[in-house]
Amino acid sequence: MRYSCSSYSYQFDKRDRRFFGYIIVFMNFFYAFLLSSFLLVSSKQIVISNVLPRLDTNGSYVDAHDGCLVKFKDTYFMYGTVYGNCHQSTTICDAVCGYLNNTFSLYISSDLVNWTLINNNILPEATKDHNYINYWMPNVEYNYRTNQYVMVYWSSRYGFINSSIAIAVSSTPFGPFVNVPPLVMKGAKVISSTTGLFVDDDNTAYVRYNTRDGPLRHVIEKLSSDWMTSTGQFSIIVEKQDYPWFEGGGIFKRKGFYYTMLGIDCCFCQWGGDARTFISNNPLGNWTYFGQLNYCADGKAPPDHIDGMNINPCSLNNPYGTNFTIPAQQFNVATLPISSEETLFMYYGERFRSSKDGIKGHDFQAWIPIEFTNNDIPKPMIFYNNFTINIQEYYNKELI
Ligand SMILES: *[C@@H]1O[C@H](CO)[C@@H](O)[C@H](O)[C@H]1NC(C)=O
Ligand SMILES: *[C@@H]1O[C@H](CO)[C@@H](O)[C@H](O)[C@H]1NC(C)=O
Ligand SMILES: *[C@@H]1O[C@H](CO)[C@@H](O)[C@H](O)[C@H]1NC(C)=O
Ligand SMILES: *[C@@H]1O[C@H](CO)[C@@H](O)[C@H](O)[C@H]1NC(C)=O
Ligand SMILES: *[C@@H]1O[C@H](CO)[C@@H](O)[C@H](O)[C@H]1NC(C)=O
Ligand SMILES: *[C@@H]1O[C@H](CO)[C@@H](O)[C@H](O)[C@H]1NC(C)=O
Ligand SMILES: *[C@@H]1O[C@H](CO)[C@@H](O)[C@H](O)[C@H]1NC(C)=O
Repeated sequence: MRYSCSSYSYQFDKRDRRFFGYIIVFMNFFYAFLLSSFLLVSSKQIVISNVLPRLDTNGSYVDAHDGCLVKFKDTYFMYGTVYGNCHQSTTICDAVCGYLNNTFSLYISSDLVNWTLINNNILPEATKDHNYINYWMPNVEYNYRTNQYVMVYWSSRYGFINSSIAIAVSSTPFGPFVNVPPLVMKGAKVISSTTGLFVDDDNTAYVRYNTRDGPLRHVIEKLSSDWMTSTGQFSIIVEKQDYPWFEGGGIFKRKGFYYTMLGIDCCFCQWGGDARTFISNNPLGNWTYFGQLNYCADGKAPPDHIDGMNINPCSLNNPYGTNFTIPAQQFNVATLPISSEETLFMYYGERFRSSKDGIKGHDFQAWIPIEFTNNDIPKPMIFYNNFTINIQEYYNKELI
């Protein structure tokens, strides 16, 4: 009796599902019809500047640093750390300015140029302890299996202490994000200075981090399908025995290959970091060194080893000497579908101590398109004062 009952209900479910399947297919056609009739898509030429201050629609400086730039539906979202109005007096970090009282902000844009501030405190819990805990590197991605926006970020609550990594969630990309129990990573005993989130085409998420326990490694570790725990599966991108460690960097995927870009430890250093690039055909596979994408501005390669993060690798005895070509510390690679045909892979870094008025929150970022040869080899980067791209823009906001 019980058996036949459940088997009947199974059949019913199946028919039921097929019925809803037809409705969904019909709705999709209907929706596509609506979109094609009313959604105006146009191509627009935009100029991204690395030398003019990035101001929001209110005319204030965009203060969203060391985070990420992502596209959800047709809108670009920039999440970052608010550094505020302090002055960093030294050529590297002073452990106060940009360290304390940080919050995370969100700006949005439909064209990568015109940015609107949504909120300068999208992780409200940060204000509980940010006068002694450091908050950096908010990386936000959308998990379509759970319908959740997930933020992975670095916090000194765990960084340099143990293998946990902070994570927060929101049902919308606009926040507020709320902390959930941290990820506990298996590829290290103690996380070091950087964390980043990478999501593959199949919605599988990976966290990249560097390790405090030796050898100094960059690890990429796979998360569960809801992204709330580690699967324990990881791969080592690179390891080295001696300090300083590498920092990250960013991960992107292009034509079936995964690339991780890493740079020498740069603690808010004004000369920037290099971009040692590693490649693999599988995030959990074997990573091999591919090449340098950010040479010193004089064209020379930085030395393999330097004695500390206070040394400018491009001018060993002079912090005010030659910088890197891109005089920035890299924090990400923004992978942006800018039109139906084209994906922009954009280096995303911070130019510390670059603002004209010395205010840290006003420091420039470096947004540099990563260019490829005809054989799909990434080319060493060039610093563009500004560059022009064509993007597709969607006009009829009500329909989206
Ligand atoms: C952080 O905020 C607290 C409380 O407002 C203030 O006393 C402290 O000076 C601030 N520190 C920095 C570095 O801004
Ligand atoms: C910038 O964006 C705002 C808000 O979406 C809009 O009102 C304004 O017209 C835009 N300005 C330009 C120049 O596109
Ligand atoms: C923009 O400026 C207006 C007028 O000063 C202010 O009321 C508004 O809150 C500001 N909006 C943001 C997002 O800062
Ligand atoms: C890591 O340290 C934090 C803060 O002390 C603690 O709350 C957490 O339980 C620790 N996690 C692990 C895996 O040890
Ligand atoms: C990585 O390399 C090792 C040794 O060369 C090999 O056994 C292993 O199958 C490789 N793994 C992948 C995922 O390619
Ligand atoms: C290096 O970058 C810093 C910070 O932007 C800048 O002040 C300095 O002039 C640059 N040095 C050179 C030699 O370009
Ligand atoms: C782009 O840079 C060039 C060269 O620095 C400059 O002449 C031009 O005015 C800039 N354009 C914009 C829109 O900033």
